[in-house]
Amino acid sequence: MFQINENYLQLNQSYLFSTIATKVEKFSSSHFGADLIRLGIGDVTLPLSPAVINALHRAVDEMAAKETFRGYGPEQGYGFLREKIAEIDFRQRGIDISADEIFVSDGSKSDTGNIGDILGDDNVVAITNPVYPVYLDTYIMRIGKSDKLLLLSCNAENGFLPEIPSERVDVIYLCYPNNPTGTVMTKTELKKWVDWALENDALILYDAAYEAYVQDEDMAKSIYEIENAQQCAIEFRSYSKNAGFTGLRCSYTVVPEALKVRTQNGEQVSLHGLWNRRQSTKFNGTAYVVQRAAEAVYSSQGQLEMREMVGYYMHNAKLIRDGLIEKGWTLFGGENAPYIWLKCPGDMDSWTFFDRLLAECHIVGTPGVGFGSAGEGYFRLTAFNSREKTAEAVERIKKWEC
Ligand code: MLT
Repeated sequence: MFQINENYLQLNQSYLFSTIATKVEKFSSSHFGADLIRLGIGDVTLPLSPAVINALHRAVDEMAAKETFRGYGPEQGYGFLREKIAEIDFRQRGIDISADEIFVSDGSKSDTGNIGDILGDDNVVAITNPVYPVYLDTYIMRIGKSDKLLLLSCNAENGFLPEIPSERVDVIYLCYPNNPTGTVMTKTELKKWVDWALENDALILYDAAYEAYVQDEDMAKSIYEIENAQQCAIEFRSYSKNAGFTGLRCSYTVVPEALKVRTQNGEQVSLHGLWNRRQSTKFNGTAYVVQRAAEAVYSSQGQLEMREMVGYYMHNAKLIRDGLIEKGWTLFGGENAPYIWLKCPGDMDSWTFFDRLLAECHIVGTPGVGFGSAGEGYFRLTAFNSREKTAEAVERIKKWEC
């Protein structure tokens, strides 16, 4: 009889955002006409910007002509995009990353989920608690529940920043600005992690999907702003939240050439080579038209439009923050991130708060406990809805007697 990967049976029955979607669908079908406001999954609502749309149209036309049609592209991404990324996201900020070190992909969810393919099964892996569920779920899919998985508790007392582990850790996932708590790490804090990783031969998997939301100078947009981080970190970036690509799908992962590890026989191996091998075997590249759209984000018009988009959502975040602070609620995030992390009032648990907010205010959010046990009693709201709906949601919450 064939066997299945039984690790899948150890997972929660469904992915967090699927569970929420099912609950909301059920509510909608029994409350016909309810004007729901969705501040749950971090999905953007503004349309793609004109620079991106024009680039898409041009690329579609190229695909329609015999002379300019493109079939399979390079699995690592087209040079025209990788060069722009290296130049604008890194070199112009004084970071020495070359186009060859960049792997274009279809989303950070895929890459943060797939990176485990090139790592050994015996690593002690640390994730924060609460955490973006993809890191945890993909670990369980690969290894199963294991005492080699450490949860680093993040709470109001430690400012939602994990403490450097005192026990052995080989791999750690860090995400800043953080999903779900919206908190950020200063460069000084991040340097502690880089120094720790270098001293302990550990690997940092750094998810910087929300870097465009960083407003303060003393916060890093890239882990490579920290000296020697190229020797210990892989960074994941996305066009979803800065340029509205959640439906178009494009991201990239930086695997520096300087990132090396010794095998059990003492041979020095580059992770860049392994990831390249993995991608060229299992991935056939991001669509040409999508890569042309991502390239347009780096034009001067594209950069301006991206800043406007981020500014729009940050204004929404401020509306939510101001409204909830006025209501007297305790909250975190929303200043360098599109997520507001609030303490459920009256010591309500996360799912009770979810159900009541949905039933009594017709607002959808995300229960903190869905991101891990340390998220119990907390709740996440996103700033990604329209200005009008966000303002309306804040008014409803302000009037709510809960
Ligand atoms: C979230 O709501 O946490 C994000 O939208 C998830 C994602 O980007 O995959």
